[in-house]
Amino acid sequence: MRVVLGVAGGIAAYKACSLLRLLAEAGHDVTVVPTASALRFVGAPTWAALSGKPVSTDVWSDVQDVPHVRLGQEADLVVVAPATADLLARAATGQADDLLTNVLLTARCPVVMAPAMHTEMWDHPATQANVATLSERGVHVVPPAVGRLTGKDTGPGRLPEPEELYAVCERELARSARTSPTAAAPATPVENPAPLADANPGDAALSPSTGPLGDLAGRRVVVSAGGTREPLDPVRFLGNRSSGKQGHALAAAAAGRGAEVTLVTSAPADLPGIDVVAVETALQLREAVHAAAATADVVVMAAAVADFRPASYAATKIKKTHVDGADGSIDESAPVITLVRNPDILAELVQRRGEADSPVIVGFAAETGDAHGTVLEHGRAKLERKGCDVLVVNEVGVDRTFGADDNTVTILRRGSDETVEVGPVSKAAVSAAVWDVVAGLL
Ligand code: CTP
Repeated sequence: MRVVLGVAGGIAAYKACSLLRLLAEAGHDVTVVPTASALRFVGAPTWAALSGKPVSTDVWSDVQDVPHVRLGQEADLVVVAPATADLLARAATGQADDLLTNVLLTARCPVVMAPAMHTEMWDHPATQANVATLSERGVHVVPPAVGRLTGKDTGPGRLPEPEELYAVCERELARSARTSPTAAAPATPVENPAPLADANPGDAALSPSTGPLGDLAGRRVVVSAGGTREPLDPVRFLGNRSSGKQGHALAAAAAGRGAEVTLVTSAPADLPGIDVVAVETALQLREAVHAAAATADVVVMAAAVADFRPASYAATKIKKTHVDGADGSIDESAPVITLVRNPDILAELVQRRGEADSPVIVGFAAETGDAHGTVLEHGRAKLERKGCDVLVVNEVGVDRTFGADDNTVTILRRGSDETVEVGPVSKAAVSAAVWDVVAGLL
C-alpha cells in the first residue's frame, strides 16, 4: 500500500526511521515527507536511503509531477510521527505552507498523527484544542506515551514506540482496505487479519482500533502487575517469572488516554502521574486492589498472583540441618513445606460487584496448552469460570512472554464469540488493544 510518512521537527524524528523500516519491510511503498525543521534532526540522505525515494520538504521540487496534490490523493495512509505542536497547529488551521501540510489537505485516506513534545506544550489549551479539532475531523491521534522526555523531565509527551505506531498503521490500512473496494491488498498479511476480517462492524467493543485521544478521561482505573512473592523465611520466598512489564505498560497507556490510574505492583515502578502502590504478597495485593477497586471504573488483574502460599512463616532462617529432640541428634532431612490456598482476587472482584456501578473487570490468563485443550480453549473455559468481562489470554513458557518486551495475546469478551488477536507486538501495543476493547464497554 502507499504510505506517506510525515515527519515534523522534533527530536523523536529519529524514531520515525524505525517506523519507516517497519513499514518498508512489510512491503509498503513509503514516501517520506519531512518538514524543513525535521531535517535538522535527521537529514534527507537518511530518509532517501531508507525509503529508496527522493525527499523534499517544499512544493517547488519536481513541479511537473504536481507532488503537492498527487502524494495526498494517491496515499492509502498518511502517518505523521512525530507531530509537533507547530505541525498540529498548522494542520488544524488548514495551512498549506510546505509539502507535508499540502499532503494533509489533499489526502482522503486515513490519517494518523502521533504527537510528541514537552508536557507543557502538550497540556497547553491551544494544543489540546488543535488535537480536538483534528480528532473531530477524523484524524486518528495516537496519544503520547508517558515517560522520560528530552531533558531530565518526565511526563506525557513521548512518541510511542515505532512498533506501536506500526501496529496502528497496519490496523488503519486494513480498515481502509475493507471499506474501500479499490484499495489493493496489503503487501504482507497484517498482524491480526482474522479478527478484522471476521469483525462485526457494529461490535465496537471488539473492534481492534486504538481509541480516540483522552477516551479514558475522567475514568478511574486500577491495574495490578507483577508476580507475588510468598515468604518462607526472612531470606526465601515462593515466586514466579512475571516481570510486571505488561501491567506497567497497561497503566502507562491508560494514563496516556486520560485515566486516573492506581498501579498495584510487586515490581519496581517509577511511572510519573500514576499512583503506585508497592506490594509483595498475594494478601497485600488483595487488600490494595480491593481498596482501590471500590471507586474504580475498570480493574485489570494483570498480576501473576500466587495460587498458594506457605502455611507458616519461619521468623528465623530455615537451616540446612537442625538439632532434633531431647537426645541432641542432628536432623538432616529436607523440610516439608505445607501450602495453603490464596484467595482468588479476580473471583472476589466479580462476586463483589454491584448491579449499578460495576467496574469493568479484566483478567489475564497465562496458559501453556496441554492434553486437555489448546491455549484458547483453556482461555474460554477460564473466562466462563472467572466471570470477568474481558480476558486477555497469552501463551507462556520459560522462553515466552516473561520479561520480554513483546507479547502475543488473544482478547476474549464475555458473551461474545469474537476474538481480537494481537501481536507479536510491543507490550505497549498490546495495552492499546486492551484499552480499545475496554473503552468500548464503558
Ligand atoms: N488471579 C487472582 N487471584 C489468584 C490467582 C489469579 O486474582 N489467586 C487472577 C490473575 O491476576 C489473572 C487471572 O486470575 O487475572 C487468571 O490467573 P491464572 O493464574 O491464569 O489462573 P488461575 O485462576 O490461577 O488458574 P490456573 O492457574 O489453574 O490456570
